[in-house]
Amino acid sequence: MTAALAAEHLKKSFRKPFTGARVEAVRDVSFSVEAGEVFGFVGPNGAGKTTTIKMIVGLIFPTSGTARVFDVAAPSREAMKRVGFLPESPYIYPYLTPREFVTMCARLSGLGGAELQRRVIAIIERVGMSDAVDRPVRALSKGMTQRVGLAAALVHDPDLLILDEPMSGLDPVGRKDVRDLILEERARGKTVFFSTHILSDVETLCDRVCILRKGEVALAGRIGELLDGSSTLSEVALQDVTEALKAALAREDLAARPMGPRWVIDAEGDAAVRDVVELAYAHGAKVVGIAPKRETLEQLFVKRAL
Ligand SMILES: Nc1ncnc2c1ncn2[C@@H]1O[C@H](COP(=O)(O)OP(=O)(O)OP(=O)(O)O)[C@@H](O)[C@H]1O
Ligand SMILES: [Mg+2]
Repeated sequence: MTAALAAEHLKKSFRKPFTGARVEAVRDVSFSVEAGEVFGFVGPNGAGKTTTIKMIVGLIFPTSGTARVFDVAAPSREAMKRVGFLPESPYIYPYLTPREFVTMCARLSGLGGAELQRRVIAIIERVGMSDAVDRPVRALSKGMTQRVGLAAALVHDPDLLILDEPMSGLDPVGRKDVRDLILEERARGKTVFFSTHILSDVETLCDRVCILRKGEVALAGRIGELLDGSSTLSEVALQDVTEALKAALAREDLAARPMGPRWVIDAEGDAAVRDVVELAYAHGAKVVGIAPKRETLEQLFVKRAL
């Protein structure tokens, strides 16, 4: 199957002004995004996400390596026709209105006539900016400007969306709108590649994730596979716990912590879960829950990206 986006050994080094020292912003980044999937690109500040994205869309030249969009070398006119791009901090000429700016972007993408007008209005509505459609951009808030940037990225109905921190600057409702929009695009068969620091969004939205660390891929894979099997820890919740039971648990290295009227024990592995349950029954306590404690993407991120 053709990848919607492929990065092959992308590298970028910058020279620092005055000192001339080299900054290795991206050392060796390869990944592949399948058509129709939502792909999360995460990593700490300065990991090289924006630099990688800029190389893909042609804002900077790679020191070496290549990128392909639907198997066409990128950046090129042909490849970029199928891409909608939202930069990290969209700069929009402040004297234009959202209508004028999005219309300009639509024209640059080759749209025209009645179809152009219809699309501009529809997309401004979709990003929730209808009320401010004719207000100059300089009078808009950061989050509103972000929404106009999104409208510009979407107006030509691209097959691949490349979004550099699309949720930044948005309020909770705005963030939910963007999450819905990403899922709607996927439902329409589109591919979405986005960078973010909001790991809960990655966990709920993405099929796959790539974690960058100091310009290199630290970890990549399906969210489900990365998180499943990463931990065999279970949480056993008990009620009617006596001091004798607590002491018996402590002797087995199973510390019970209070949680409201219950006591909760972290048990590593099946044997430990069995021990807790048997001790609980032997002491007349009630087992009210056994839940596998899955590692979150945030915990994985802290372990692998920092
Ligand atoms: N034009 C430039 N000149 C010199 N160094 C640069 C330039 N652009 C980026 N860098 C450096 O490259 C590294 C990666 O930066 P980049 O903006 O790609 O990180 P990022 O992962 O997008 O971070 P953030 O999460 O903060 O957006 C940083 O050390 C940054 O200082
Ligand atoms: Mg960035």
